[in-house]
Amino acid sequence: MHVLSVVSEIYPLIKTGGLADVAGALPKALATQGVRVLSLVPGYPQVLAQLPHRKEVGRLEAVLGHTAVVTRAQTEGLDLLVLEVPELFDRAGGPYLDKHARDHPDNWLRFAVLSLAGARIGLGELPDLKIHLVHVHDWQAALLPVYLRYRYASTLPVVCTIHNLAFQGQFAFDIAPRLELPTSALDVDCLEYYGGIGFLKGGITCSDIVTTVSPTYAREILSAELGMGLDGVLQARRSALYGIVNGIDADVWNPAADPHIPMTYDARSLARRQQNRATLLDRFRLPDHGGPLFAALTRLTWQKGADMLPEAADEIVAHGGHLVICGQGDRAIEETLHICAERHHDRIGLHVGYSEDLAHLIVSGADILIQPSRFEPCGLTQLYAMRYGAIPLVGRTGGLSETIIDANEAAMAREVATGFQFHPVEPHSFREAVRRACEAYSDRDAWSGLQRQAMKADFSWERSAAQYAQLFEAVWTAWRQSTGGSAPAPADHA
Ligand code: ADP
Ligand code: GLC
Repeated sequence: MHVLSVVSEIYPLIKTGGLADVAGALPKALATQGVRVLSLVPGYPQVLAQLPHRKEVGRLEAVLGHTAVVTRAQTEGLDLLVLEVPELFDRAGGPYLDKHARDHPDNWLRFAVLSLAGARIGLGELPDLKIHLVHVHDWQAALLPVYLRYRYASTLPVVCTIHNLAFQGQFAFDIAPRLELPTSALDVDCLEYYGGIGFLKGGITCSDIVTTVSPTYAREILSAELGMGLDGVLQARRSALYGIVNGIDADVWNPAADPHIPMTYDARSLARRQQNRATLLDRFRLPDHGGPLFAALTRLTWQKGADMLPEAADEIVAHGGHLVICGQGDRAIEETLHICAERHHDRIGLHVGYSEDLAHLIVSGADILIQPSRFEPCGLTQLYAMRYGAIPLVGRTGGLSETIIDANEAAMAREVATGFQFHPVEPHSFREAVRRACEAYSDRDAWSGLQRQAMKADFSWERSAAQYAQLFEAVWTAWRQSTGGSAPAPADHA
């Protein structure tokens, strides 16, 4: 089966968060299930620079007034189509923000072009590319099924995965005429959203199947509390909504063979972590006071509870611990963290920025990884931390609640605990969890047991990829039956 995955970021070419990790790892896992994935990504400068040997496979004319050159390249087990529209994608900054951290003002157009181009490729406009199903990720690709249904009256199967409902691609209604869609697509049953245009709303409405990245989050988004205004729309698609938990790329995140860390190790050689811990403290110029080393590796946003870090920092310091923070995001939060780090200059270290290297050093050297998310569709950092024997301490929400077994008395006695959860996600319970973790840390044997248990947890992609493959297969089979078997015959992508 041949799937076109349409996505706005993909590891290792371009990454702002977990979406890229998933988009980069899932195709490799699906390959073992007999699903071949071709990933369509925008030609950002970071992508072009890393794919010097890409070959042109065709051109798409008149994509909302733009011409797209589509090139193809293979790297790191990925088969990629690059959508080259230099005036839209080959520019300074990140995929979504300019160099002053403001949204690119034409994001609606950039990702409408990605979606429309994806739809046309799915429909076979480029030579020798047969696609049986399209997998779209997040709002940036969510217009694709809208184009298929309303512009081409096509029933080509589409699965839409929501990685984070907080980002919906909402724009003023005045872009509507420029989307080149019939007016029927613009009404309240599809794109219209509180007087504006909602890309993700359209994707949820027009896809055959909607998935999100954990079963818990799939339930949570049906509620007014976490539905972010789309709970009604999701309720209407309830029978087509699935939660499939993310996995991790066990080659990229492997403490036994990680080129980013000073000392590799596994569950039988945990003592070797000590050197990584020392290097990590050193990197932040912190003396080792002997207490636990906490770390936060996260976007510094309200979603991630980063505003609660200063209170937790006080608690950590009060218990003789240290805290290192690596992240970027909300300027006001960055500022309060700077003040906090100055206040506890020999206990708290802060790196504002994005660093792949430091990310690996953190999970390999920290004792406890804190993630006080207010909501979390899945979360990957806690999974990486567990694999590296850094114990996660998390808010009990979304994917965090189902990937970690809380170290309560019963779980410790049965030796099944893998981390600490707190609820409600508020400063006082966060502080309480910090106290619990510090107490547990002081029992070194019990702590090593917790580490080994966390490292044993299996978050490989295998099971989840099988679930995606099953869904894809079911949707494609239903489509073949409904079209009387007129599906294109499987043919090589190449
Ligand atoms: P989200 O996608 O919501 O940010 P996830 O936990 O799914 O959350 O994924 C976050 C990804 O981004 C992980 O791979 C994590 O290691 C990485 N990450 C987050 N902040 C940084 C940072 N400052 N430097 C390097 N990697 C980071
Ligand atoms: C989003 C979510 C995160 C999830 C990631 C990958 O960024 O915030 O929880 O792990 O997507 O699916």
